[in-house]
Amino acid sequence: MNDAETIAVEVIGIEQVTPLIKYFTLAPLAGGALPAFSGGSHIIVVMRGAARVHRNPYSLLSAPQELGSYEIGVRRMEESRGGSHFMHDAVRLGSRLEIAHPVNLFGLDKIARKHVLIAGGIGITPFLAHLEDLHAGTVAYELHYSVRSPDHAAFLERLRRRAGDQLRIYYDSEAQSIDVEALLTRQPLGTHVYVCGPAGMIEHVVATAKSAGWPDSHIHWEQFSAPPVGDAFDAFLARSNLTVHVPPDRSLLESIEAAGVEVPYLCRGGVCGFCRTRVLEVDGELIHNDHFLSDAERSQRRSIMPCVSRARCRNLVLDL
Ligand code: FES
Repeated sequence: MNDAETIAVEVIGIEQVTPLIKYFTLAPLAGGALPAFSGGSHIIVVMRGAARVHRNPYSLLSAPQELGSYEIGVRRMEESRGGSHFMHDAVRLGSRLEIAHPVNLFGLDKIARKHVLIAGGIGITPFLAHLEDLHAGTVAYELHYSVRSPDHAAFLERLRRRAGDQLRIYYDSEAQSIDVEALLTRQPLGTHVYVCGPAGMIEHVVATAKSAGWPDSHIHWEQFSAPPVGDAFDAFLARSNLTVHVPPDRSLLESIEAAGVEVPYLCRGGVCGFCRTRVLEVDGELIHNDHFLSDAERSQRRSIMPCVSRARCRNLVLDL
């Protein structure tokens, strides 16, 4: 995926659903239907601001069978590097954006006997599209949704309509929390668990499942976090004969793109492996923030995922 393959869309609906979350409806400028997708898919939204281009991933929360428009939920991030603030402050009804084709890195397992879905905050969004399929199907599921307080609980009416008794809500403000250990130990064999939310919640669920003996293939998670900030550094792109400067608040991938060099991507979150780039030389530390490279690959120091990873060095040469 790169910007040449994006679809032009118009914002035809905006709704403030909680103090921090806005809900956007995007329709194709050319009319007709948008590409088909399945529950758990995300798109990259390309936002062209005056000073900077943002490309952020957002889960599709519309029903997969309704392709006249897509729906996304955007949380205003306190530590935003600009993308969520752009969506909240600059995007209006009628604004035009570009989106990448949907990609699904968080689909439901087709042969699972049961699905346990765990969401924290804005992490509820991929499950909204899943619920459309689960509602129509026969596989058992339960949805556990943890959120700060009742006024921060987004999409409650829709969740209740779709999930009914399968839905359980936990409010931090009322000292309620998901007992992950109890939840995972009472599931039948063949159950798959899916978690989307803050990093701490994902780590806790994954670690609890593993220590309870769940196979890796039955544990699924998705995290769309902004690329970590870090010290500024320079990278030399050998094939392009270009040096790019990477400021503290910009990712290596964004800096390369700003220099006019395209790198393929799908997730922009260190998960899919699409942006993997060969490191030709490095005289310092590669800071791997991805979830894709193995420990062995990291120790070889021959690859980097520029969407989330950085370097602390004086000389970094990439095969781009
Ligand atoms: S774009 Fe998916 S790992 Fe970088």
